Parts: sequence; C-alpha cells; structure tokens
Amino acid sequence: MNAKYTCKYRGEVCREDRERQNGHRAVTLWFTGLSGAGKSTIAHAVEKRLFDSGVKVYTFDGDNVRHGLCGDLSFSPEDRKENIRRIGEMTKLFMDAGTICLCAFITPRHEVQRQLREAHADGDFHLIHVDCPVEVCESRDVKGYYKLAREGKIKNYTGISAPYEAPQNPDLRLDSDKETLEACVEQVMTFLKTRIAL
Ligand SMILES: Nc1ncnc2c1ncn2[C@@H]1O[C@H](COP(=O)(O)OP(=O)(O)OP(=O)(O)O)[C@@H](O)[C@H]1O
Ligand SMILES: [Mg+2]
Repeated sequence: MNAKYTCKYRGEVCREDRERQNGHRAVTLWFTGLSGAGKSTIAHAVEKRLFDSGVKVYTFDGDNVRHGLCGDLSFSPEDRKENIRRIGEMTKLFMDAGTICLCAFITPRHEVQRQLREAHADGDFHLIHVDCPVEVCESRDVKGYYKLAREGKIKNYTGISAPYEAPQNPDLRLDSDKETLEACVEQVMTFLKTRIAL
C-alpha cells in the first residue's frame, strides 16, 4: 500500500474539524480471524453500541464489500490482497470524514496485516484478532462453506486448504470460543475507552 495521505488537496474542513464536531476521534478497528470466528457478529454489535451513543461509525464487511466495491475480484491470493488494499484505502477516506471504521475480514496473511498497519498513520489502525479454533468455526459453519471446502468443492479455503497466519502482536485478542458475544463486545468497548480515549 502506498501513501498514508489520501488527498493532496486540503479542503476548508479537515479531519480534526470533523472529529471536534463529532466529539470523538476517528480510528479503524480491523477484525481478523477464521471464517465463523465471529468478526461480523462482534463488529456489528459494537457498531450498534457506538451508533446508539451518537458515534459516527461504519462497518465494512466481507459480505457487503465483495458485492460492489470489490465485485470484480476473485479469491486468488493476488485478488485477496487487492480486496484488502482497496478497503484499507476506503477506511482512510472514511477516517478523513471523521468516521470510526470497523472492518471484518479474514485477512489471513501476515504480509497483508503488516501492510495495512503501515498504510495507516500511527494510532489510526488497531488489529483485533478474533481467535477461535478451526474445529469450533467448522462446527458453527455459519455459511456452509467448511463442508464444501472439506468436500473439495471450494479451493483455497482459509483454515482448511489455505493457511491462516494469526497476528503475532494484535492490539487486542478476543477468545470467541470461550467468551460470550457480550463479553467480547465489552472488551472492544473497554479497548476504545482506555486505548483510544473514545
Ligand atoms: N463470542 C462470540 N463472538 C462472536 N460470535 C459468536 C460468539 N460465540 C458464538 N458466536 C457465533 O459464531 C458465529 C460467528 O459468525 P460470523 O458470521 O460473525 O463469523 P465471521 O468471522 O464474520 O465469518 P466470515 O469470515 O465467514 O464472514 C455466529 O453464529 C455467532 O452467533
Ligand atoms: Mg463475516
């Protein structure tokens, strides 16, 4: 990913003005983890909590972005990288607009996790590992894709036939197999209050 700054023109209204008007900072929380680990469930629950308290927040989800913005991309390693690169650029624009971005993407490769962090200014990007053993994710099989992957009907399926590289230094780790959804959401809210002073 390239520059940290998305626009060479600085308008009359800058990010700091928007943050001041909103009464909170703009940041990106990026949820990584296996399919079925709970990224979307947790991100949307956090979004609801924040929205209800008047925070400008938006959730980018694999399930919505793939249809439009990245509808032209496949699940090849190159296209997965491009998918994440585009979303990383979107979150920078949304942060310029003063919005807290919650991103729920598997993001299985260390290289891409690192690139995302490098693409964002210091303090803007926070990686949250939604940690859950593959056996548990497979037993949940929310989308039925694990079954298809086991049958060889889906190739390169993360956790089954493609690697998931757990982040070595996540900013926060949630054990979604041991903790309830409510407890995971609470941990994210505490993280926002203590680490980001939201
Ligand atoms: N502590 C928990 N946190 C989040 N989800 C949980 C938790 N415990 C159980 N679940 C269940 O696990 C499932 C997680 O599904 P979800 O779609 O959120 O996963 P995902 O990580 O977004 O997967 P994908 O990458 O395929 O989009 C849901 O059915 C949810 O109810
Ligand atoms: Mg999801």
